Formats: sequence, C-alpha cells, structure tokens
Amino acid sequence: MVRLFLTLSPAISRLNIYPRISLLATYHHSLRLQKHHKLKTETPTSSSISPSSSSNLQRKHFYSTGTRISCLTKSEISKFDDNLVVLGIETSCDDTAAAVVRGNGEILSQVISSQAELLAQFGGVAPKQAEEAHSRVIDKVVQDALDRANLTEKDLSAVAVTIGPGLSLCLRVGVRKARSVAGKFNLPIVGVHHMEAHALVARLVEQELSFPFMALLISGGHNILVLAHKLGQYTQLGTTVDDAIGEAFDKTAKWLGLDMRRSGGPAVEELALEGDAKSVKFNVPMKHHKDCNFSYAGLKTQVRLAIEAKEIDAKCPLSSATKEDRKNRADIAASFQQVAVLHLEEKCERAIDWALKLEPSIKHVVVSGGVASNQCVRLRLNNIVENKKLKLVCPPPSLCTDNGVMVAWTGLEHFRVGRYDPPPPAKEPEDFVYDLRPRWPLGEEYAQGRSEARSMRTARIHPSLTSIIRADSLQQQTQT
Ligand code: KG4
Ligand code: ZN
Repeated sequence: MVRLFLTLSPAISRLNIYPRISLLATYHHSLRLQKHHKLKTETPTSSSISPSSSSNLQRKHFYSTGTRISCLTKSEISKFDDNLVVLGIETSCDDTAAAVVRGNGEILSQVISSQAELLAQFGGVAPKQAEEAHSRVIDKVVQDALDRANLTEKDLSAVAVTIGPGLSLCLRVGVRKARSVAGKFNLPIVGVHHMEAHALVARLVEQELSFPFMALLISGGHNILVLAHKLGQYTQLGTTVDDAIGEAFDKTAKWLGLDMRRSGGPAVEELALEGDAKSVKFNVPMKHHKDCNFSYAGLKTQVRLAIEAKEIDAKCPLSSATKEDRKNRADIAASFQQVAVLHLEEKCERAIDWALKLEPSIKHVVVSGGVASNQCVRLRLNNIVENKKLKLVCPPPSLCTDNGVMVAWTGLEHFRVGRYDPPPPAKEPEDFVYDLRPRWPLGEEYAQGRSEARSMRTARIHPSLTSIIRADSLQQQTQT
C-alpha cells in the first residue's frame, strides 16, 4: 500500500490501494504463518493451534481476498487471528511511536518518543524539525518496541504504518522504516489511515464494539463525526470548516503562556480546574447551523481578544504570574473549555440522531483522538450519549493521543480481511516514491451534512478510504 503507481491512471492507482497479493507473496506469507504458529506453540500461554489445523487453515486462508475468509468458521478465524503479531509505526505528526499488538488485542509493547522540547520551542509542530526528530529516534523506538515485546522481526506477521493524513515529511520517516523492516524480513505491509486508527483502537479496548457505530474523532488537525458502517467504510456526518478543537486548545495554551511540553490541551485542562467557567462570555460557534459541522477559528479569536483585554503576557510563565494574573488566565482557560466542549456536545447530539436514522442498530458512540483524553470532554459526552440510550466507548488517554497500538491494531483488522501489500524488495531504489496521503478523507460526505460555510479546500486531496475500499470490493465482485 505504500507504493505509488506512477505509471497507472488515477482510477487504477485508487483500486490498488490494497492490491491483491501475488502468488509469491502468498507463498511467503504462508511461510510466515507457519513460522508464527511454531513460535506460538512453543509459548506456553498461547491458545495453541495444532500443527494439522494450522496447516489446514493456511491452505484455505491466504488473505488473498476477503471472501475467502468467509469460508472459515468463526472460531477458526478467531483462533487464527489470535496468533497474528503486528508491529505498528506512527509518525504522522510530532510523536514517534511504535507498538506490537497480538491478534487477540494483547498489547505486547508500546513506545512513544514525543517532541516535547520542540513543541515548547516553536509553540507548535514545525515540519522540518519534526522530520529530523523522527529520523533521529525511529530506529530506537522500533527496536525498543520489539525488545519490550520480547520478539524479533522474524516473529512478526506484518508491519502496519500510518500513510496519511499528516505531514508528508513526517509520514515519510515512518513509511521508510516500515518498508525497510518489511523488506528485510519479508513481511507484508499494511498502510493505515490515521483517523481510522483513532476510531478502531476502541474495538481493541471494548470487545463488544461492533459495526455499525458512530465516532467523534477530535485531535490537533481533525474534528470529524463519522458513521462507521464496516471496516474501511465511513459516512462523514460532519467536519470542521476551519480549525480543529485541539488546535484551539494549543493556541489558548500558547497565548496564556502555559507550559507546552505536554502539548497545549493538558495544560489548559489543568489550569481550567482553578477557573470559573462562567466568568468570560464566549459565543458558542455555529449555533444557527443545523448541521454537524464544527468551527473553532472564531472561538480562538475570542480567546485571543479576551487575553489581550486582560493584558496577559504570554512571555511571563504561569509560575511567575501574580495571584490576579493567574486567576484571569484560569478563568479564560475554564470559559474556553466550557464553550469548546459545548460545541462538541451540540453537534454530537445531532449526529447521533442522524446516525440512528441511517443505521438504527448502532449501540455505541466512540470518542477518540488526543482531545478525548480530556476529562471534561469524556464526562460531558458520556451524558449526551447515555441520554440517547447508547454507550460511550472512550479509549484510555494513552490510546487516545497518537500511539503505535492504534496503528498495529488497525493494521491487524485490515490484514485479516486480506487488505495488505506484499513484502517490498529487500533493497529499495534510492529514488523510490512512497505513497503518502497527507490529505486523505476518511469517509464520503453525507449529503445532508454539507455545510454552506465549509471552505472547499479540495486541492491535492486523496480519494477517501471509503471510496477506495468500495471500488476495490466492486472490482472483486465483478471478478468472481
Ligand atoms: O490525536 P493527537 O495526539 O494528534 C493528532 O492527531 O493531532 O491529538 C493531539 C491534540 C493536541 O492538540 C493536544 O493539545 C490535544 O490533542 N490534547 C488535549 C488533551 N490531551 C491532548 N486537548 C485537551 N485536553 C487534553 N487533556
Ligand atoms: Zn492523532
């Protein structure tokens, strides 16, 4: 999947996002599975598959198409899946992360190297510096993930890596590393959509969470409401017309002179505990838009003006602020958070109604992405979801912010239905062009959800994951 089909037409290259595996890859994969089952049967804690059932499975279950999987019984698939082990690599923004996850959802290791100092220095992510920081630590992060899992590359079933959306320079570091591991050890490779990974990690956490479900994904760059129909198939109910909520938290923290080393969100959340959320009157964005879209740019401006009005000096750290200055900052933090979350509540409530109309069987609402680690967000959205008689699934904070586990898990989900690339060559040409998707929508827009206010920033947008997977399934159907 991390290949660019430069010589093909765009339509064909879209279909090849998860190209069918070649016979050679099938053969290699079968070897890998045998190797893996061997490893597993040597491990006393493994849910052992006898050699005969294992080879039987391999004959029927080469992941070449999703349809072949359906000829296996459910228990066969789950026994088989439990033994897969996937390495996940994430470098789409400012965290260099890797993790090893087993098919049964067991997290064997999780390693994150964050660019805290850079964030504090630049007050945000600077792509070139972020790329250099990823390059410095990527080898060690991946090695640590393997060491902590007590495994070597030879024990892996596949490598999963984020290919978008995100910063191209940063994505490239992860993809290069993933391809080099996969090439050297002859492993299949799965390209992962970062936002799908934020949503699907909830299925690792909550075993009962099955499709269809609704998800609110809130991070530094995205604010999306989606209806998840199936793996890889999403309807986008709403998105932001300008900034995401995480960006608003980060700027608020920067302008309030807070310590940005853990990113802005946690700093604002902490200071907000000291403040009065009713003290500063901020307008709730998009009150009169009866849709599920978001806008945080106006709220950011309101916060900036309030900070200027109180003559808060961002260069003066909070620790040196006078009592009154500190109180002013805390009041702004609390009032901002109050309105930022209210905006989420209003849109989420409407989105649940839309989602239930489209898919009346949904039982769960997932809230994930970095901002979902905020306690106020979790609490208030839980009330909204429970009032609609649904259940909230919010991964623990360590799995809400960017991490390798979500990538490994999403890789596993796609891998077991046959969506992966064959191993890349052991030595890739220097000028090889990677398939990176910096602007890559997750789902197709729900017609009713389109907003007039939405700026049409369509340039260089990759076709959505959903449209690619639908086209791929259609192609499979016509071939069978
Ligand atoms: O998903 P994520 O880790 O990276 C992106 O994909 O962007 O999200 C990062 C965003 C940052 O804007 C950060 O400030 C925000 O999540 N965040 C929080 C909290 N923890 C992280 N926002 C509010 N409260 C938090 N506790
Ligand atoms: Zn993220």
